[in-house]
Amino acid sequence: MVNDNWLKLKDLEYRNQQLYCGDQSLTELAQTYGTPLYVVNEDLIRKRYRTIHNIFSNRYSKVRIHYAVKSNSNLSVLRILEEEGAYVDAVSSGEVFLTKKSGFTSDRIMQTGNNWTDEEMQYALDNNIMINLDAISHIHRLKKLCGNSNQQLPILSFRINPEFGDGHHDHCITAGKTIKFGIFEPQVIEAFKIAKECGFTQFGAHMHIGSGILNITSFKKALDKYFQIIRSVVEELDITFEFLDFGGGIGIPYRDSENPLSIEKYADLLISKLQYECETMNLGTPYLAIEPGRYISSEASILLSQVNTIKNNGFRHFIGIDAGFNTLIRPVLYGSYHEIVSLLKTESDESIIADVVGQLCESGDVLGKDRKFSHLEERDYLAILDAGAYGFSMSSTYNSRPRSAEVLISRGHANILIRERESFDDLLLHQIIPDRLKIAGGVENHD
Ligand code: LLP
Repeated sequence: MVNDNWLKLKDLEYRNQQLYCGDQSLTELAQTYGTPLYVVNEDLIRKRYRTIHNIFSNRYSKVRIHYAVKSNSNLSVLRILEEEGAYVDAVSSGEVFLTKKSGFTSDRIMQTGNNWTDEEMQYALDNNIMINLDAISHIHRLKKLCGNSNQQLPILSFRINPEFGDGHHDHCITAGKTIKFGIFEPQVIEAFKIAKECGFTQFGAHMHIGSGILNITSFKKALDKYFQIIRSVVEELDITFEFLDFGGGIGIPYRDSENPLSIEKYADLLISKLQYECETMNLGTPYLAIEPGRYISSEASILLSQVNTIKNNGFRHFIGIDAGFNTLIRPVLYGSYHEIVSLLKTESDESIIADVVGQLCESGDVLGKDRKFSHLEERDYLAILDAGAYGFSMSSTYNSRPRSAEVLISRGHANILIRERESFDDLLLHQIIPDRLKIAGGVENHD
């Protein structure tokens, strides 16, 4: 069964056989709010943010931690991080909208778009945020939009593709020759050259090599290439940088056999390289930016689900639960491992090995394969761990199953629902039935 110390790292522990998150009994939450339920641990979000912020700030004077909104864009999560003083990395106008609604001021928002539309550029300009472009063709379009509206030119950055990426799955490796993101060495110089000619004066440079990385040498390899490119830009164009951004990607231990990546070592690597390069290139002291998503949000949420069926088909055991890839898609999309534990710890000798499966009409709807449970009955509850990043934010209503509720817990505060469970009526939202297909009396009156 799962190692207690590893659970402790995630603020989870069994007390009197019951699983607690912080000081909160999870069974109580499941009974109060129903399942599936995302439980968001505010204390752990704050702790992760403070840990990474302090480690970097103790070593370098100008640090910006841009939280990657896409990992978990719940407004309360954003509010917590706004209070902590975080910056954000947004990847769409929708994320810019949410961060503005959460109180982030423009100077704390950067948009890293890819395949930008003019509308998205205009929205970023209107909101006066930092803009991180992804293609040479974007510069002229951006400049034109600035010209049209006499807009002040934004701080402009380019996403550099350092030709080497890493990640927990092919889909999550975001640098390399066959990857759609960013621009390569010769084009980077051209991009900054054009930007300078267009009148932009404040610059940043960015890379993001992938997601779910636990091996520090991957960052080192990309970093070397990134600075080689920055060096050519500086030598050719004589420009300085307001910030240098190294992206996100820090992995977390999803299995109890895995160790966390050492943030101290990661910080040492980035900062020693940054300081050396800035000194030799005479770049002064630019802001050091990183964009962790998973590191901050992942371990801070668990997904609670209820067992509704235990079935042995003669060949295999299945534990059927009320969450599926509509609720958490990572296991199916990437083959990702999420630890699944029972909320009740039983000391029974009997155990079963089973696949934990959802309710969707697809046989691929498996959240955990070959998992061992000591004793389980229908109506028991399970916790799927580390579900805070790319969990709710990638969930869907597939099979017309309304999306889950989310509840926020924090020591010293009452639990509070931060997202209502969607209802069947929500399934009707935004759908338009042509007059000729309308039911007399309207759908809403038709039971
Ligand atoms: N910055 C940029 C530009 C990104 O594209 C991403 C993630 C991040 C930062 C944050 O990366 P993180 O620190 O969270 O690894 N859905 C996948 C992950 C996709 C990540 C895409 N980009 C998953 O569930 O593993």
